[in-house]
Amino acid sequence: MSCGTTILTIAGLRVSLCRSDCPDRHLVSDLSLQVRRGRVTGLIGESGSGKSLTCLAVMDLLPKAMRQSGGRIDLTAAPGPTLSPCGCFRGRQAAMIMQNPMSCFDPIFTIGRHITETLVAHGLNAPRHTQRIRATFVELGFEQPDEILAAYPFQLSGGMLQRIMVSLALLLEAELLIADEPTTDLDVIVQARILDLIDQLRREKNVGVLLVTHDLGVIARLADQVAVMQNGRIVESGPVRDIFSGPSQAYTRDLLAAHFSLYGRLAGEGRA
Ligand SMILES: Nc1ncnc2c1ncn2[C@@H]1O[C@H](COP(=O)(O)OP(=O)(O)O)[C@@H](O)[C@H]1O
Ligand SMILES: [Mg+2]
Repeated sequence: MSCGTTILTIAGLRVSLCRSDCPDRHLVSDLSLQVRRGRVTGLIGESGSGKSLTCLAVMDLLPKAMRQSGGRIDLTAAPGPTLSPCGCFRGRQAAMIMQNPMSCFDPIFTIGRHITETLVAHGLNAPRHTQRIRATFVELGFEQPDEILAAYPFQLSGGMLQRIMVSLALLLEAELLIADEPTTDLDVIVQARILDLIDQLRREKNVGVLLVTHDLGVIARLADQVAVMQNGRIVESGPVRDIFSGPSQAYTRDLLAAHFSLYGRLAGEGRA
């Protein structure tokens, strides 16, 4: 598929909390956005606005009691098995990097076992990929890949686990990467590395990225399109350059003003 082809279309998504003891609560309503291959769509908005639920709905990983009660989520590539030892893949084509990567790993399995079982669950012959696994780890900055493969998740830092999620996305040749606040708990050097990796996947592997972040500087640097969420709805969306230079909504203007007062002017403009 060529750069620019739509890989994800969300149309009119609604996510509801459905409990028997109270009426349904709609936490995401009428949400529409697209992600294209080789491009980054940014999703921003205050805490609790529904960004993570949107990501989880795409991955078919909504928490219990939540359900997609309306709208469509179309992933262009054919779906594959949802379940794998690393719980953050939908088929082979969509991978998710979570804010808390520990939740994607089973504490009793080594990283090597996670990798091989995930590859097998997605129809790949893991032994045939041993060299590729090591090479991918080295590419992602693990100088001693065998030590990482033998480690248990709790022995690794959040940034290392994030990079393992990225390496799995590479190994499975995922076409869509969902990154939900992928750098929030990381120090600035590791943050920069993860963001560079995401940008590299976009550039070199033509991966489409849905990037959730509260850092508008990151959006300005990496994203083409941005959607602004408030109270479960998109209040404004469009090319980053347009939205950042001329926001039409007071809410977006407030987000930008808060960012400017903390960090000064944005370093770059959107690449759109
Ligand atoms: N498991 C859950 N049970 C009940 N409410 C939830 C759950 N997860 C999220 N919510 C609620 O859904 C809304 C959106 O949450 P979320 O998508 O996590 O926001 P964001 O990622 O934008 O910070 C919030 O009001 C949050 O309290
Ligand atoms: Mg969130």
